Amino acid sequence: VNSTLAQKSKSPVTEAAIRSAVNEAYEKYKSAPGGANASYIPFLADVDPKLYGIAVCTADGKVYEVGDTKYEFGIESISKVFVLALAMEDRGPEAIQDSIGVNATGMPFNSVLAVELEPARAVNPLVNAGAMATNSFVKAPNSAAKWTRIDDIFAKFAGRRLPVIDKLYASETATNQHNRAIAWLLYSYGRFYDNVDESVDLYTKACSYGTNTRDLAVMAGTLANNGINPVTKERVIKADHCPKILATMITEGLYDSTGDWVYHTGVPGKSGVGGGIIAVIPGKLAIAVFAPPLDKAGNSVKGQLAAKYIVDKLGLNLL
Ligand code: DON
Repeated sequence: VNSTLAQKSKSPVTEAAIRSAVNEAYEKYKSAPGGANASYIPFLADVDPKLYGIAVCTADGKVYEVGDTKYEFGIESISKVFVLALAMEDRGPEAIQDSIGVNATGMPFNSVLAVELEPARAVNPLVNAGAMATNSFVKAPNSAAKWTRIDDIFAKFAGRRLPVIDKLYASETATNQHNRAIAWLLYSYGRFYDNVDESVDLYTKACSYGTNTRDLAVMAGTLANNGINPVTKERVIKADHCPKILATMITEGLYDSTGDWVYHTGVPGKSGVGGGIIAVIPGKLAIAVFAPPLDKAGNSVKGQLAAKYIVDKLGLNLL
């Protein structure tokens, strides 16, 4: 074992160290320039770009927060991680690999080309194509029952029942033609596993959940804590599934710039176009940041900077 790695994994992360890393990251990037709100969904374009919050949830359930951590924003693509968790409970990790796919696409999150190049699989549960296929893979007798299952598992991950932001859901539904086209394309290749229109609708609805930064930290903290919500202490998913979910994040969590993210942080992350981002350090803690301006790949600019700062400061890079 590489001695640096052994040393790193042993070093305790104290409460004081977390508190100061979170505060420093907040101050350091508060006025960081760059990026723009997502413009392709009207609701997201109108969110105040100055909002900024950071929360850390440790594997033993302590939560540290600074900034606008109570503000509810669209979870967007971060929802893909938790619908994947549900589908994996239903079908098991092997079926996810075989029927959805777990390789990186190296392409934007809404790429049609990725599906065309890899029609044998729906590519990856964390890009739009694979996420919609994953939604279709959740077991339920009908769409209403499926939504209840999604809603229940999200509530367990967050430790509270999450609201759907109706205006965001309406805004997404009015503009999701591209996603519908991708889903039907997958269907034509036999890579969709339930009613197409209903699955796309539930995917869109799950993207429209309102979460605050603290919720995301607790949800991600559940993945850092082997599938047990560290705050409520309730088991949400099987422990064995956590490394499989984190593997998809390390492969595709920030889309075509996942390599850049992992190169600098060495930890699994997941972003959403609502401006949220999570990072998970297994057995230790999870970081969530919210700041709406995004880079070209669709990842929060300040979110990446702040999360990277905390990872560095606390010596959490796994690599
Ligand atoms: O499917 C979409 O376009 C959005 N509802 C979610 C995409 C997303 O968050 C991609 N993110 N970075």
